[in-house]
Amino acid sequence: MSNLFDLTGKVAFVTGGASGLGFAMAEAFAEEGAHVVFADIDAPGLERAVGRLTQAGLKAEGVVLDVREPSRIRETIESAAAKHGRLDIVVANAGISGGPPFSEPEGQIENIDLATWENVIRINQTGVFATMQAAARVMKPRGSGRIIVTCSISGLRTGVISGYTYAATKAAVVHLVHLAAVELAPFNIMVNGVAPGPFLTNIAGGRLHREPERAAFMAASVPLKRLADPAEIKGLALLLASDASSYLTGTVIPVDGGATAM
Ligand SMILES: NC(=O)c1ccc[n+]([C@@H]2O[C@H](COP(=O)([O-])OP(=O)(O)OC[C@H]3O[C@@H](n4cnc5c(N)ncnc54)[C@H](O)[C@@H]3O)[C@@H](O)[C@H]2O)c1
Repeated sequence: MSNLFDLTGKVAFVTGGASGLGFAMAEAFAEEGAHVVFADIDAPGLERAVGRLTQAGLKAEGVVLDVREPSRIRETIESAAAKHGRLDIVVANAGISGGPPFSEPEGQIENIDLATWENVIRINQTGVFATMQAAARVMKPRGSGRIIVTCSISGLRTGVISGYTYAATKAAVVHLVHLAAVELAPFNIMVNGVAPGPFLTNIAGGRLHREPERAAFMAASVPLKRLADPAEIKGLALLLASDASSYLTGTVIPVDGGATAM
């Protein structure tokens, strides 16, 4: 049987690729033969990410991008497509935490800071939409493509894992996945989401690395009773980016140690 997950010759663009889940997804694509364009606001992080892949003999390049600038998103996606003559996979992944859940005073409804709210919406929601929009502009005329959105189980259900702002943006992007999947299906563009549970990354300033009690609480909240390693997103990302998911669109798949089954 041919390798359904083979990405040889494909070009992938990943926002927020310098760290955590974005890096792991990009690495998975490169390991299966894709050329990866990392886009991230963190220039030194980008350099490290590209270096890690190229030193391993994989194909990668980096572009500094703040997803709060939709015109720059369009520009970087279009220039990646023009440079490589194709763009097969776009991952709208860049995202930030919106502050603590309501189990902490700062996260209670009367204390939510609206300036923070706006900033999180610009990155997690408008930034994701603008990335999907720029991807669709390139992919529609080609009649093929994969758009993957990093959602969250916080957008699928309530809980005290994350704050109002974050949960609101993640619920919004789940709906964007559904809408875009329906519009873009006739163009052979598959749009799907990954909905991670708690992964040990640098999100929220690396809070889970610094606060073992919080990490233990999060781990206890999932049936597998542990946090996930970023590499544990790779299998699902590869599925959604490759021919292995040729009849799969409009889904948001939890990778959450069983949390949403509870
Ligand atoms: N870690 C988790 O438990 C978890 C769970 C569910 C969903 N997610 C989602 O996964 C995605 C990746 O987060 P992560 O956990 O890997 O965190 P991370 O902090 O390790 O990585 C996020 C990356 O996004 C980049 N970034 C932040 N703001 C940006 C901006 N304005 N423009 C461009 N890049 C920007 C950062 O520089 C960083 O490289 C986010 O959308 C997050 O909401 C994470």
